[in-house]
Amino acid sequence: MFLPSNFWSNLPQVELQKDDTHVWYISLQASTHDLSYFSQLLNEEEKKRAAKFHFEKHRIHFTVARAVMRILLGKYLNKEAREVQFYYQERGKPYVQELIHFNISHSGDRALFAVNKNYELGVDIEFMRDNVSCEQIATRYFSQTEIIELAKTTNKKLAFFRGWSRKEAYIKAIGDGLTMPLASFYVPLMATENLSIHHNDPRTWGLWNLEVGENYTGAIVVQTLNTNIRKYTYDG
Ligand SMILES: CC(C)(COP(=O)(O)OP(=O)(O)OC[C@H]1O[C@@H](n2cnc3c(N)ncnc32)[C@H](O)[C@@H]1OP(=O)(O)O)[C@@H](O)C(=O)NCCC(=O)NCCS
Repeated sequence: MFLPSNFWSNLPQVELQKDDTHVWYISLQASTHDLSYFSQLLNEEEKKRAAKFHFEKHRIHFTVARAVMRILLGKYLNKEAREVQFYYQERGKPYVQELIHFNISHSGDRALFAVNKNYELGVDIEFMRDNVSCEQIATRYFSQTEIIELAKTTNKKLAFFRGWSRKEAYIKAIGDGLTMPLASFYVPLMATENLSIHHNDPRTWGLWNLEVGENYTGAIVVQTLNTNIRKYTYDG
């Protein structure tokens, strides 16, 4: 289950062990009351960004995701949510000056936030909507091996979205975002265990599948093969 908004105001301090990666499953649905609580945690620049969204749904999702990211980082860093200061890499990846790595992703009305003390990481969640031309998009963006794998798979929607979220998690871990050609590396599309990325990067990157509920899929990439992925949901 995904964490409801009233959970956040009472969250205790959280300890992050050096061998662990924490992944938080977050619901972006918020009542008017929750939204005003979340909004006041944002800085002026973030409030301006929220105000620019054309659709209210997107404004709410951005506000909740950003506020929860502040709350969680505050808990790990022993700071107030409002005191967390974000900096941005060249391609927009947010970071803080303290020794902690994190990344967030949102899709539909859900988000995943991941954090690790020692290793860079990227996370991605995808709502698996219908009416997506999976094979057409794959032909344009996926590597040759992935395109062949997709053609052989019966559940094309699942294979496509799993592949897409794994690829996004990787480019987000590196920080390049979509400026990195998605066809320049390979991820398995359907397997869920013992996943690895085939790429030219001399650094080690571990890939894990994340089960994020019906109609969603998720993935995390961490710059190590040796970390325990611990999921935080409402049920504990
Ligand atoms: C990173 C990227 C792939 C995210 O795609 P997405 O599917 O829309 O979004 P997700 O929900 O998975 O992730 C969004 C979050 O990732 C983080 N993020 C932003 N840029 C990032 C990057 N380059 N690498 C990793 N994470 C990034 C942010 O926290 C963002 O949340 P926010 O929009 O609420 O601030 C896409 O935005 C991208 O390619 N950006 C790079 C574009 C670029 O080169 N910009 C240069 C000028 S800033």
